[in-house]
Amino acid sequence: MRKWFEKLWEELNKIVIFRSLRFRISVLIILVGVVCCFGMRFGILRNYFSRAVEVRTTDVQSQLQILANHLISYDYLMNPSSDVVNAELEQVANLYDGRIMVIGGNYAILKDTYNVATGKYMISEEVIRCFKGVILSHYDNENDYIEIAVPITNTVEEKNETVGVILASVSTTTLVQNEEILSRNSWIFVFLLLAVVLVVAFFMPRIMLRPFNRLSDAISEVKSGFTDEAIAVNDYVETEHIADSFNQVMERMKVMEESRQEFVSNVSHELKTPLTSVKVLADSLNNQDDVPVEVYKDFMSDICDEIDRENSIINDLLSLVKMDKKSANLNITSVDVNALIESVFKRLSPLAQRNQVEMVFESIRQVNAELDEVKFTLALTNLIENGIKYNQRGGVVKVTLDADYQFFTITVTDTGIGIAEEDQKSIFERFYRVDKSHSREIGGTGLGLAITRNAILLHRGSVVVNSELGHGTTFTVKVPINYAVNSKAAAEAVEAKKQSTEQ
Ligand SMILES: Nc1ncnc2c1ncn2[C@@H]1O[C@H](COP(=O)(O)OP(=O)(O)OP(=O)(O)O)[C@@H](O)[C@H]1O
Ligand SMILES: [Mg+2]
Repeated sequence: MRKWFEKLWEELNKIVIFRSLRFRISVLIILVGVVCCFGMRFGILRNYFSRAVEVRTTDVQSQLQILANHLISYDYLMNPSSDVVNAELEQVANLYDGRIMVIGGNYAILKDTYNVATGKYMISEEVIRCFKGVILSHYDNENDYIEIAVPITNTVEEKNETVGVILASVSTTTLVQNEEILSRNSWIFVFLLLAVVLVVAFFMPRIMLRPFNRLSDAISEVKSGFTDEAIAVNDYVETEHIADSFNQVMERMKVMEESRQEFVSNVSHELKTPLTSVKVLADSLNNQDDVPVEVYKDFMSDICDEIDRENSIINDLLSLVKMDKKSANLNITSVDVNALIESVFKRLSPLAQRNQVEMVFESIRQVNAELDEVKFTLALTNLIENGIKYNQRGGVVKVTLDADYQFFTITVTDTGIGIAEEDQKSIFERFYRVDKSHSREIGGTGLGLAITRNAILLHRGSVVVNSELGHGTTFTVKVPINYAVNSKAAAEAVEAKKQSTEQ
């Protein structure tokens, strides 16, 4: 049944109009309206009829009660020929379009207003029960009559003994006829109400959805470029939320667009600088005659340096572009992190020696983690290389490795020049260099930390910087030991990242 319903729902959803909210609200109003109209009509009619039967029963019962008292006072059971009582019995019977029988103590019928059973006996269950003092009534809906039995109680000398029974059956034909008239009239009422429901179903969704249309128009205006101002439709909380979310997306897109433009101009500038140098060097050689070989070699060596620089910028850019793609590009294997750090140390030791910087590795724990070795090495190399480059002679770069059951942590601490507080938030941006002239002297493109951060984020890890100008810098990298493929582990990693960012 459920499957059948799901299939039907799926099929209905293929119809475009069915997916329209306005159509759905209209259908809902019509359905609720129809159910209410018919339900109300049914309820009113049913209630009317049962109430009418109840009223008729109580009426007749009280009339019979009065009659029973008259029967006692006229001693009718002993002398059933009393004209007054007989006339009264006939009158009540006619009034309710029914039949009244008076039954004496020996179950003999003393009076029958139909004059067919007088003198006969009536021994039925109702009569027997009524003789015990119980007033009985029963509605026979098949034959349209109410049967009522009222005991005739002798209250003289406070005896309270049932000496006879009045049995009446009254017709409910008039009640049925009234119900039919009411039923016919109620159709007019139902149709009028349905007309109102249809009008409401047509206009109400239009009015209700007007703010959403305005929202859609506002978004279209932004989309087609007429305006880039924030939109506001505050009629409903829902429209307010959508407008807020849209404005936030627009804000993000603006920031992204600005950073894209900045990136493009930075890239162009960075790529042009070595080329300009090469051009200047080549031109000056070209414009001179009989240039000595030494000068040629000197210039050519400078040209080679500039080409290397250009090459390194392009390589860095390619690494960044590769890492901008999804994590599907990660080549995850189980990596011995201690060995990885040692191999980075080995590769950087010539640079450290040249800069007279000591490198120290402190491993608190042996760590094996699921990593993309190439990308992670790239990230770590840049951090340690920075520690060496932005250090002073005789300085130290210390790397520590520790782990808990979920994450491993690497810290890279140097005793170098440090980074000012206001620069710390920008150093991970592409091409950002704190002191441009000094950095240029040291060498580098300003892409290293952007690559580092991207590589670590791809591993669902975090990197934070702590630095004091003139004293040194510490970068702390925290990465899940097991690459978080499932959502729970990913969520924990994100949580850990959030915590480390807050610190
Ligand atoms: N350990 C550090 N101590 C002081 N300043 C640092 C340190 N690490 C980075 N910086 C500053 O942050 C800037 C950005 O670093 P990043 O590694 O991104 O670029 P880079 O080292 O200049 O070039 P490369 O792309 O070759 O790494 C550096 O230019 C430097 O000013
Ligand atoms: Mg660097």
